[in-house]
Amino acid sequence: MRWIDTLEGAAAEKLPEAVHRYYRQGSAGGISVAEAVSAWSAYRFRPRVLQDVSAIDLRTTVLGTPVDTPVLVAPSTLQRLADPDGELAMAAGVKAAGSLLGVSSNAGTTFAELGATGVPWWLQIYIVRNRSITEQMLDAAVAGGAKAIVLTVDTPVVGRKEDEGPVVWSYVQPGQLRINVPKGDWSDDDLDKADDLTPDVIGRLHERTGLPVVVKGVLRGDDAKRIADAGAAGVIVSNHGGRQLDGSVSTAHALPEIAEALAGTSTELYVDGGIRRGEHILAALALGARAVFLGRPALWALAAEGAPGVTRMLTDLTEELEHTLQLVGVPRPVDLTPDLVVRP
Ligand code: FNR
Repeated sequence: MRWIDTLEGAAAEKLPEAVHRYYRQGSAGGISVAEAVSAWSAYRFRPRVLQDVSAIDLRTTVLGTPVDTPVLVAPSTLQRLADPDGELAMAAGVKAAGSLLGVSSNAGTTFAELGATGVPWWLQIYIVRNRSITEQMLDAAVAGGAKAIVLTVDTPVVGRKEDEGPVVWSYVQPGQLRINVPKGDWSDDDLDKADDLTPDVIGRLHERTGLPVVVKGVLRGDDAKRIADAGAAGVIVSNHGGRQLDGSVSTAHALPEIAEALAGTSTELYVDGGIRRGEHILAALALGARAVFLGRPALWALAAEGAPGVTRMLTDLTEELEHTLQLVGVPRPVDLTPDLVVRP
C-alpha cells in the first residue's frame, strides 16, 4: 500500500476516537468532503510525447517567498492533539521539506514561537466582532515574521457538524486554545466571527500589516474578480475541506472558472481540498494554480510520525508530482497548460 494512504489509519490508532473524527469530518451531510478527492481523480490527461523531461525543477515562489515545492500545508486548528508539540512539530516537518506553513488563528502555539522556527509561514485569520482583538493578533503575527495574511471568508458562521461524537474539546488542555488571543475580559460576542465583511476589509488588512493578503474560501469566478479588484495578492480556491457549506462545489470543479476570472491579473491562485496524489497536483497546476495546500494529510502525518512524517508526506508528493510531470511531458510547471487536462 502507498505509504501516504496508510497515514490516516496509523493516525487513527494513535488518536482518541473523538480527535480522529474531528479531523476527518465534514459539515452537515458530509457530501462535499466525500466528493473532494474523487473530483480530482475524475480529470484525465492529454500527455505530450518526445519532450526532454530529464530535468524537472519544482522550485517556485509564493508571493515572493521561495519554496522548494508547490506542495504547501493548509492552516488547521488543534494540532497539539496530533502531536504534543503541535504547530512546532508541523513547522519543523514543513521546513525540512522546503515548503510553507499556513497557521490557523486558532493555533496552539504563539506566533512568536512559530517565527523562531524559521519556517516560512502565512497567518490565517478570522475577523472577529471586536476588531481590536483581530488587530492585536495581526500585529503579533507581523512581529512573528508572517509573510502573508490569509483571510478565511467561507466562515461567516461555523458549519454545522452533525458528527461531533465524543466531545473533542474535552481533550484540549487549558492554554492550548486562544493562545494567540490577546489577554482581556472578552465576551463570547467579542470573539464571534464577524458576519458583515465586505471586500474593503482586504485593503484594511494590508494597511494594518503591510503584508500581502490572500483570500481563502473562494468558489466563484465573479467573487475572485471582486477580490482581486479589491487588492488581494492571492486567492485560495477552497471549500474548507467540506467543513463549511455542505454541498458546496468541489474545488477541482471550481478552479477553472476562477483561473479564467483571474487571467491577466497579478493575483496568485492557490487551491486546497481533497488533493492527495501527484496527478491531482498536476491537474491543479495545469488548471492555473501556482501551488496547492494540503490539510488532513498533514494532520495524519503529524499524528502518525511527527515532524519526520510531515516531511516525508510532502517530499513523497513532490516526487510523485515530478514523476507525473515526466509522464505528461512537461519539464517545468510554468509550462503546464489547461489543454493537458480533460474535464469530466
Ligand atoms: C481545517 N481548515 C481550517 N481552515 C482555516 O482557514 N482555519 C482553520 O482554523 C482551519 N481548521 C481546520 C481544522 C481541521 C481539523 C481541518 C481538517 C481543516 C481547513 C483547511 O485549511 C483546508 O481548507 C482543508 O483542510 C483542505 O482540505 P483537505 O486537504 O483536508 O481535504
